[in-house]
Amino acid sequence: MPSKPTRNLALELVRVTEAAALAAGRFMGRGAKEAADKAAVDAMRLVLNSIEMDAVVVIGEGEKDEAPMLFNGERLGNGSPPEVDIAVDPIDGTRPLANGFVNSIATVAVAPRGAMFNPGPVFYMNKIAVGPQAKGVIDIEAPVKVNLERIAKAKDMHINDLTVVILDRPRHAELVKEVRACGARIRLIPDGDVAGALMTAWPDAGIDVLMGIGGTPEGVLAACALRGMDGEIQAKLFPRSEEEKHRAEEMGYDFDTILGMNDLVSSENVFFAATGITNGELLDGVKYFSHGARTDSLVIRGTTGTVREIVARHNFTKLNPISEVEY
Ligand code: FBP
Repeated sequence: MPSKPTRNLALELVRVTEAAALAAGRFMGRGAKEAADKAAVDAMRLVLNSIEMDAVVVIGEGEKDEAPMLFNGERLGNGSPPEVDIAVDPIDGTRPLANGFVNSIATVAVAPRGAMFNPGPVFYMNKIAVGPQAKGVIDIEAPVKVNLERIAKAKDMHINDLTVVILDRPRHAELVKEVRACGARIRLIPDGDVAGALMTAWPDAGIDVLMGIGGTPEGVLAACALRGMDGEIQAKLFPRSEEEKHRAEEMGYDFDTILGMNDLVSSENVFFAATGITNGELLDGVKYFSHGARTDSLVIRGTTGTVREIVARHNFTKLNPISEVEY
């Protein structure tokens, strides 16, 4: 049944990620991770509460006692419908931001209430993510070689021309060896696997697949974005210790289950926005100029599959007198 156009919440969410990026961007290279995070959280929260929605934070900054803001379970929005889940990562790539490196972004995703996977106390998941052309051919339990062969076939490419994005971590030494043995290219990133996953579905990024272990919140955020970009992510929870595994199992989490798109976010009606804080392959970072700044953002709507890139010029002379956060 055809229907009339409806509200695209992501177009409102982009103001949230822009505000976080503008606030956090000031801290690039200043070595102050916590101050940057606080600035991003404060700005994000302020704008989120102006949006007409009744949101519960499913993926937040941690437990209430550790993070005074945007904690899991916190209510956001102005309290009127729709009832939604919200995932926030005010800075994905706090380290690169603090050190002045690339690929730091501000992200937020919204889905109908109950649709998002809640990773609870589990910090890491093993992930494999691809763009639309290789959707349906990946299997997180298959050997690296099998996945790469299938991706190459689906994309009509030679395996030597594939580029695998992997977080640069000692835990990935074996994965790197296996990819090298297949002859595929590797793009090691110091941080930021939300951007890494999105690059697989971004035509000009030149990335074919993301592999490896990264944060659980980042996995859910990436799943929300890939829903709209028509890509795919599969994941398996990965325990940091026997103690974490035991605790999570007692809470009902299962480390053998493959989490597919539907497990990570069970609705198509999902909205995602991201704004670059420092320069990256996906988005430009914040660029400040006299009395203003420029931001580069992505806005994704799951239902329609529309992906918008929004470049905005912000005028601090006009914003500062009317805003609760100082730009
Ligand atoms: P934060 O900046 O939000 O802390 O995350 C950065 C990040 O690189 C994520 O993109 C990734 O999923 C995770 O850290 C990996 O964790 P670790 O640094 O512990 O390997």
